[in-house]
Amino acid sequence: MNKRKLDIAILGLGVMGRNLSLNFADKGISVVASDPFPSAIESASASLEPHVTLCATPEEAVKKLSKPRRILMMMKAGEPTDKLIDEMALILEPGDILIDGGNTHFRDTEARQKRLEAKGIHLVGLGVSGGETGARHGPALMAGGNADAIASVTPLFQLIAAKTALGESCYGAFGEGGAGHFVKMAHNGIEYAMMQSFAEIYLLLRDAGKMKPAAIGDLLAYWNEGETASYLLEVTVQVLKAVDRETGKPLVDVIRDKAAHKGTGQWTVEAGLEFGVAVPTLAAAFEARVLSSRRNPDVRHQPQAIDRMGSSSDLAGDIHTALPLLMLIAYAQGLDLIAEASNSKGWKTDLAQAAKAWRAGCIIRSAMLEPLALALHGGGTESGINVMQTAYAAQVIARGESVLRRMAIKALSHAVPIPVIASSLAYLDGLGAASVGANLIQGQRDFFGAHSFERVDRAGTFRHHWQNNK
Ligand code: 6PG
Repeated sequence: MNKRKLDIAILGLGVMGRNLSLNFADKGISVVASDPFPSAIESASASLEPHVTLCATPEEAVKKLSKPRRILMMMKAGEPTDKLIDEMALILEPGDILIDGGNTHFRDTEARQKRLEAKGIHLVGLGVSGGETGARHGPALMAGGNADAIASVTPLFQLIAAKTALGESCYGAFGEGGAGHFVKMAHNGIEYAMMQSFAEIYLLLRDAGKMKPAAIGDLLAYWNEGETASYLLEVTVQVLKAVDRETGKPLVDVIRDKAAHKGTGQWTVEAGLEFGVAVPTLAAAFEARVLSSRRNPDVRHQPQAIDRMGSSSDLAGDIHTALPLLMLIAYAQGLDLIAEASNSKGWKTDLAQAAKAWRAGCIIRSAMLEPLALALHGGGTESGINVMQTAYAAQVIARGESVLRRMAIKALSHAVPIPVIASSLAYLDGLGAASVGANLIQGQRDFFGAHSFERVDRAGTFRHHWQNNK
């Protein structure tokens, strides 16, 4: 019997693979699924069958596909993915398409693409955001790779991606090579910054505003409308209002004050260094997590408040007004990083499309991304447009700057650690300042290293004979 060939294979039946399989099946896309580990297939079978065809081995699953074959790997990044790719490379044919849906470093994606292209096999790097629920009901998807391969997978991914309220799909293709995984990495860098912003706001309201977690949760819930309406604010509210069943205390009070990470925030900071893009807020958010694990009770620090706070409602009002600016700065740094990487690697990534792909389904979704995408419209990365230069940013800055400054002063005077708030302000000041003191740095560099400097009054490079002041 000549059975109809299937549309896509999912290899890797962990939480993400299982939920994506069902999402595809819901949209009328025929799915065959498998996993290198038989136990994973067994435990997935109850939830997947009969909607998804299950096969005992990846090889068997791949044989059931129509050509060119499209195979979505949902394996752990690193060795498990490499191993599966090696197995697939032995059975796939030129024109077939492997898709890596893991949180893979864009350089690994590019190295694997190079290896596979030698055999005519394409590898699409696919950033997937939104966790288990996103995978089941609509994730944000960020693709990168060979243009023909992208054209073949795009219709499928458009169908399963999250949709905005107006029905637009939160799937984006961002260029060749590792562009998709790069955009996902920048997404995670922004995610770290937004999460740390909310953590600092919580600390400020708790320690300086003397508010209880549930009351802070109520306040934040009230702000979850307008441009700051966002998934992470929603999550923050839920965490602040949860109660520990055992002790009856606010759950947040019994959770150890120490944050972990799995590496993507670190990669974003490293990429900033590599591409020469300042991402101080993203770096501060990452380093705040690192420092949270390295605190040392032997370091004696007994901060003294030097200023009585105004009322907690004044403080809350300030935070509410400054929040859009904090969020904007995180987005701006992530997008600036994407722009620079795109220029350097020739990806031609459309920044407006990145903002659009993040509007629903992903962790950093917020109402602000709609006006941001509009502000960036037509601003390809080659145009050099920066989020902070747009008319939209100008009005967010005008509303938020002085209150953000006042908020930072209050936090500093109360010894509340605010790395993200402080570095966001320093970024804003550094970016827009008429003078940043780099003239003195250039003088110092020329003094001890003969590095030369440019002048404000004529073109060229110059040296000064410092010893005899000539
Ligand atoms: C997403 C998330 C997801 C995960 C990251 C961050 O977009 O769905 O970003 O990918 O939360 O892995 O994890 P860490 O905080 O552990 O680095």
